[in-house]
Amino acid sequence: MHNILAIESSCDETAASVVSFDKEFIIKSNFISTQIDTHKIYGGVVPEIASRMHIESISGVVDGALKDANLTFSNIDAIAVTYAPGLVGALLVGVNYAKALSSALSIPLVPVHHIEGHICANFLATPDLKPPFMCLVASGGHSTIVKVSDYDKFDTVARTRDDAAGEAFDKISRVLGLGYPGGPAIQKAAENGDCNAFTFPKVSFSENSDFSFSGVKTAVINTIHKMEQKGEEVPKNDIAASFQHCVCDVLASRLVSCAKVHGINTVALAGGVAANSKLRELVNLYAQKENMRFVYPPITLCTDNAAMIGARGYFSFLKGEFAGSELNAVATKDIM
Ligand code: KG4
Ligand code: ZN
Repeated sequence: MHNILAIESSCDETAASVVSFDKEFIIKSNFISTQIDTHKIYGGVVPEIASRMHIESISGVVDGALKDANLTFSNIDAIAVTYAPGLVGALLVGVNYAKALSSALSIPLVPVHHIEGHICANFLATPDLKPPFMCLVASGGHSTIVKVSDYDKFDTVARTRDDAAGEAFDKISRVLGLGYPGGPAIQKAAENGDCNAFTFPKVSFSENSDFSFSGVKTAVINTIHKMEQKGEEVPKNDIAASFQHCVCDVLASRLVSCAKVHGINTVALAGGVAANSKLRELVNLYAQKENMRFVYPPITLCTDNAAMIGARGYFSFLKGEFAGSELNAVATKDIM
């Protein structure tokens, strides 16, 4: 049984995890140090601060992951690390730490694409899940529908043409004064709001299943500004609920229709926005209508974590897909 030590530092969480596999994945530890409280002050992630905080916490986080797993470095067979996409200064911290560990311990270094990691959280959460399945990856930087044809074969079939879903949640939350990160704040406000109070535009393109969120974002901001100019009280909860319903309905309906078009009968969710309960409810509804299986990770495996990087890294490890000291951090990179 191989132990993979995984490291994730692409945005505002420094995370390390030990994952192994014996008939199914075993998460031996999943240690996360979040910077959210610091970035909250600025209303979003400040890249320079993120890099510095990763440097401060990375060795403690790796030690924490080993301690939680009751293991030492001598028990580790490979180091998996997120090398793309993300904030380049943040990624560099994890990549350089992983390179140093791999060299000092003389064990392989496995580069992992962050979005593929998010998708592989589903293999951790649902052991009997087998490809093919259609997965919606919705995070702060990505909104993509990916056809997973094998454990390491990912093809984008549709994507947002502009803003990512998480980006839209974060922006609207800021305009409503609900704080950062926007997703959980909007979801909470929406619990006390009416999702039919406002109708915002749902934009999708029929020719290739792509979608767009800049229109809904602008429409919501205009609605808020007009009310403020007239001196009317802004019904924050109703706006949050209507906005959330609009974005989640586009994502859920597109995911299920993409699966149908490609003849796939399992749909899955991944990424921070996959933590959203309205999104889960709507995907469940559309999937049931088409008799599709619907799987999704628990919230802790939806938002950034290193266990998902370990899961994706394990499949590359089996194939001997290693990197050397030339491995660099890459800010933007499509799924392979
Ligand atoms: O995957 P993730 O943790 O980091 C990235 O790789 O970007 O996703 C972060 C995004 C943020 O935009 C955050 O607002 C959103 O996920 N998010 C949510 C929820 N929880 C986190 N969006 C909607 N509903 C949630 N419950
Ligand atoms: Zn992420």
